[in-house]
Amino acid sequence: MNFKFDVNAVREQFPACKLEIDGVPIAYLDGPGGTQIPQRVLDGMFGYMVNDNANEDGNFKAGRMARGIEYAAREAAADLLGCDPDEIGFNCSSTQNNFNLAMNLSKNFQPGDELIVTEIDHRCNSAPWRSLERFGCVVKTVRLDPETQQLDFEDYKAKLSDKTRVVAVNWASNALGTVTDVKKFIKLAHEYGAFTVVDAVHYSAHFPIDVKDIDTDVLLCSPYKWFGPHMGVIYMKKEHIASLDFNNAKCDDISEGSRKFHMGTPQYESLKGITEAVNFIASIGEQYTECFAEQLGTLTGRRKAVVAGMLAIDEYESALAKKLRMGLRAIPGVKVWGPAEGQPRTPTVVFTVEGHAPEKVTEALGAKGINSWHGDFYAVEAVAAIGLAESGGLIRLGLAPYCTEGDIDRTLYTVREIVCGC
Ligand SMILES: Cc1ncc(COP(=O)(O)O)c(C=O)c1O
Repeated sequence: MNFKFDVNAVREQFPACKLEIDGVPIAYLDGPGGTQIPQRVLDGMFGYMVNDNANEDGNFKAGRMARGIEYAAREAAADLLGCDPDEIGFNCSSTQNNFNLAMNLSKNFQPGDELIVTEIDHRCNSAPWRSLERFGCVVKTVRLDPETQQLDFEDYKAKLSDKTRVVAVNWASNALGTVTDVKKFIKLAHEYGAFTVVDAVHYSAHFPIDVKDIDTDVLLCSPYKWFGPHMGVIYMKKEHIASLDFNNAKCDDISEGSRKFHMGTPQYESLKGITEAVNFIASIGEQYTECFAEQLGTLTGRRKAVVAGMLAIDEYESALAKKLRMGLRAIPGVKVWGPAEGQPRTPTVVFTVEGHAPEKVTEALGAKGINSWHGDFYAVEAVAAIGLAESGGLIRLGLAPYCTEGDIDRTLYTVREIVCGC
């Protein structure tokens, strides 16, 4: 495969990549908290608000266009996830989508019904199900093995029972970068008749997704992790959408189909942004379809371009992340966390520095124009499981397709400066 990623062509499209601190471009290694936004997404959102701003079904041009804007976003999200547009819904965040889902599914639960979450979860994946404990549901938590920093599949098997109603599993950890074989979890959950929810918020920023392949009942992701606005996308299998009773305004066709998820007027400007974010990923992919011909198989149209885009992003980010991990490991006093080399992982690199509080390290990096994060990133139980809850958690550096080798070199140089105090 003759693959060479054109990072400059990507950076050209991000106004934020032109910003500098003390004469150097900002290194955006804060992607797991949310990526920067390309011009076409900004244009789409701005264009809606200036030219097409209207609520739907108004009897005038802009009013008649609004439903089309929403449908276009569903088509785009469907191309990203590999499903039918009628299986896509939107709300303000994945956490909101998951709370709504839990509340609505719980109408069919009895006291004593069991719900499974995991220790690697962002609270978005676990808190909605824990909120059902007050109705008598029993929440079981799959153990994170602190050695491998992966979920313990044997513990999962032991926790499944005939009473299991929901298995909510994280696809990729935003704290450790660990990628879980969710297909294996889902298959077993279905054997017990359980409903499955996959938190793909971190995973979706780095890899192509085929919801039909993993066969989950629900999948959650958030466009602000992949160049779009602050929103949540929910995929649900069509048969569940048809049968579930959702709390909503119950106003004729505005509350039907995958619109059952909506809690009021859709965020049209953000929906426009979602469409353009997917088009941005597709525009990357269009340059690399030849390189990934084998993986793309018989795919066509925008779905093919989106999958190629995510494969190209993964290929580029993985190589940079490896360089970053190797460079950090070579610095005395630095410990890199996350799964062992060779195990499935995202390009999110987490570390600690002996004798230096994570907060101080991110502050020092920030002063050099390197944006990073520290703490538990709402993956509270995961950071506790590896023993870092009391010491300020982890320092997190996440890669995005606009990051460069220069960003990595500067980061390694600055961490070395912090360690040797010069
Ligand atoms: C793995 C994971 N799940 C869920 C969330 C929450 O997503 P949202 O902010 O859309 O609720 C995040 C946000 O960082 C995340 O990284």
